[in-house]
Amino acid sequence: MALRSIRTYGDEILRKKAKDVKKINEGTFKLLDDMLDTLRDRNGLGLAAPQVGVLRRIAIIEMEENLYEMINPKIVSEYGEQRRNEACLSVPGKCGDLERPAHVKVEALDRNGVMYTLEGDDLLAAAICHELDHLDGVLFLDRADNIRDNDAATVETD
Ligand code: CO
Repeated sequence: MALRSIRTYGDEILRKKAKDVKKINEGTFKLLDDMLDTLRDRNGLGLAAPQVGVLRRIAIIEMEENLYEMINPKIVSEYGEQRRNEACLSVPGKCGDLERPAHVKVEALDRNGVMYTLEGDDLLAAAICHELDHLDGVLFLDRADNIRDNDAATVETD
């Protein structure tokens, strides 16, 4: 496992639409493992492959000691609304307030290529939406208001 460098605001790759993973292989495992190392190193909540320069539909979230690895994830249902403060490892020093669904249900492949369903409320729902946005070249800044300097202690970063 190894750390990968995180692309930051202004890098074109963050604005591109990531491609589906066609074949899960050793490279995919290495990417997932490196993404987890990188996420933990930065005390983040989630990370999407384009953030480490790989334009594939892969994202991870680690929350409350659960690790979710999502390959080709799709939101299949969502409901409710929440307003939440978000930040992003690719947008250092900034945070903002966003509307997100309060609940989302996602279908994704795990690293064995097995389809599973992940349901999330509240923070997990927001984190899922944030990471899936990265796969479509969308940053939280695009949806946020009250964008301001990040007083790191109070903000979850993904
Ligand atoms: Co982010």
